[in-house]
Amino acid sequence: MSTGARGVDRFDLTGRTALVTGAARGLGRAFAVGLAEAGADLVLVDLPDAEGIATTAAAVEKLGRRAWTYGQDLSRTEELAGFTDTVRAECGPLHILVNNAGTAALERVGEITPASWAAVMRVNVDAVFFLTQRVTEHMVADGVRGRVITITSKNALVAEAGLAHYNASKAAAQLLTETYAVELAPHGITANTLAPGMVETPIDGEFPFDREAFEAAYRERIPLGHYAQPDDCVGALLLLASDAGAYITGARIVVDGGVLADQMPRMRFMPPYRNSLTSHDMSHDT
Ligand SMILES: NC(=O)c1ccc[n+]([C@@H]2O[C@H](COP(=O)([O-])OP(=O)(O)OC[C@H]3O[C@@H](n4cnc5c(N)ncnc54)[C@H](O)[C@@H]3O)[C@@H](O)[C@H]2O)c1
Repeated sequence: MSTGARGVDRFDLTGRTALVTGAARGLGRAFAVGLAEAGADLVLVDLPDAEGIATTAAAVEKLGRRAWTYGQDLSRTEELAGFTDTVRAECGPLHILVNNAGTAALERVGEITPASWAAVMRVNVDAVFFLTQRVTEHMVADGVRGRVITITSKNALVAEAGLAHYNASKAAAQLLTETYAVELAPHGITANTLAPGMVETPIDGEFPFDREAFEAAYRERIPLGHYAQPDDCVGALLLLASDAGAYITGARIVVDGGVLADQMPRMRFMPPYRNSLTSHDMSHDT
């Protein structure tokens, strides 16, 4: 339902409270700051020992917004209903949920163990499902026409070697979010996914691989020619979190610099570009 806001006021989040998981660093910090810039107060959640959460809170408060911080291991799914009830009691109604916390391991299919499989699934799937379940129950009880945004990945749509558990987890997160979209639509609550491509964050910091060679090869496959910075994903989040996106539900927004649009690296093997207006080579210069 339109609120009647016009122009950029459609993106104004003043008076709303957003819960962001994995808010201590990387994309989560950028999302928290972006939401605060748009006017929201923030509930910041990360692992109990996550050092960066105070830095994120300080950035939010510097913008004149409130920041509550919580140390909660989201993989302890049996705790998530009680945790959400505590947040609701201490911070008031929640309007926006950003399921951002995620984890990955680089292992070939034959190297994955039941434990490493479960470690990825518990955070990327189970926690998303059960946190969304309780937060949206509160949204309904509070009469809030809320927003759920789940951060998936381009790997929800196309597989990548060495990441079977991660790929499967992100595909599952896509479908569970779509199911929430349909079931919560009668309450005016929307649920969508944001699927980033390669973003410069510490998520793959412990991957055992030749980072420099991989990044050079991968960069060649990105039509826009460079990795994203976390801030590059904030605009899409604000669309899904605000009145501007009120009629978008069950959708996904891919923010990948064009990677999934390109099936093969054919551009690299084509002759210099010619057209009638310019003679210079228009292929990007990476
Ligand atoms: N960086 C990328 O290239 C990229 C690409 C596509 C999708 N993503 C997705 O974006 C999201 C954020 O990724 P990022 O790159 O910022 O990662 P990151 O590793 O920098 O940050 C993830 C945050 O989640 C927190 N977290 C992990 N497990 C948790 C748990 N059990 N309980 C509470 N908090 C937990 C971590 O402590 C960390 O602060 C993830 O869902 C990731 O899969 C990232």
